[in-house]
Amino acid sequence: MKDSKTIILSIESSCDDTSAAVLGDGWLLSNVMASQEVHRQYGGVIPELASRAHQQNILPVVSEALRTSGVKMDEVDAIAFTRGPGLLGSLIVGTSFAKGLSLASGKPLVEVNHLQGHILSHFIKVPGREVSQPEFPFLALLVSGGHTQIVRVDDYLDFTVLGQTIDDAVGEAFDKCAKMLGLGYPGGPVIDRLAKEGDPRRFRFAKPSIPGLDFSFSGIKTSLLYFLRDSLKDDPRFIEKNKADLCASFQKDLIDILMRKIIRAAQVTGIRHIVAGGGVAANSGLRDALTAEGERRGWKVFLPELRFTTDNAAMIGIVGYYKYQKGLFCSLEAAPISRAADYQL
Ligand code: KG4
Ligand code: ZN
Repeated sequence: MKDSKTIILSIESSCDDTSAAVLGDGWLLSNVMASQEVHRQYGGVIPELASRAHQQNILPVVSEALRTSGVKMDEVDAIAFTRGPGLLGSLIVGTSFAKGLSLASGKPLVEVNHLQGHILSHFIKVPGREVSQPEFPFLALLVSGGHTQIVRVDDYLDFTVLGQTIDDAVGEAFDKCAKMLGLGYPGGPVIDRLAKEGDPRRFRFAKPSIPGLDFSFSGIKTSLLYFLRDSLKDDPRFIEKNKADLCASFQKDLIDILMRKIIRAAQVTGIRHIVAGGGVAANSGLRDALTAEGERRGWKVFLPELRFTTDNAAMIGIVGYYKYQKGLFCSLEAAPISRAADYQL
């Protein structure tokens, strides 16, 4: 397997998915994921339970990633791990495991910013699947459960945040809407599915007017809350009767907010290669809107494979690969960084 390739073993544990992957020269050799079902019954991720589940999952997940890749530990060149941002307890499990493995195997460590992983997921090469890659500079619309940003990317490791949310992330807005409608957690995929059956023009919610390229999602969430409260007073079965239209309308408004800003960013920078990344990049409405706008405006739009939208270790491995090439290793002292604001892109 070695054939003088650069082999990266990567570990992701920032939220509620434990994942490990092996990449050889940026080609995906394995990507194993253990999703945590335990949070579903609580309607959101419970940090303490997430850490415990990571501890149970991490050894089998890493072993399975190595086994299915056909790579032996002594053939690995470096261990990449998510240092942040994310839930502190979850990050501690992955970070500590990576350090232990590094000590035991003598392999160097590469720390990875999870958000860079979402953005660079477009450079993961999948055997048998030739796809074109974005050219620098490009704009990334980074949309996940914890973050919403527009990032200018000038090189593999050269990122500039042009705009970001001033309150909630867009994924959070999806999840909170689903909670209000009694649809369970995580909300994004359910809303996406129901929205396909509904009328997106049926309801309108208050849109924010935030200057520049920043976003806000807390107002629209409150607007939905008050609207539901008032409507339920008149008809206690309002949600039940209008579920699909509510999902379609709310999703459309969220997508409009995102599209307005990415269009502005493309105009301001003159950049025409646009990529989407993060869990919400799985949303079919957003994917359609980006594709349609791209055709209208002459953009080249890059949408990640669905399995690379939500958290996965392959995206951590691809960042690890580019950092390895530059000799950007980290020491055993590197502690997890929970907040995005404390961990520069
Ligand atoms: O990137 P991710 O897996 O975790 C974070 O880094 O936050 O994103 C998770 C988020 C959740 O809010 C989930 O509801 C949302 O991505 N999501 C979606 C869809 N699939 C996942 N949102 C809208 N439509 C989807 N199809
Ligand atoms: Zn993520």
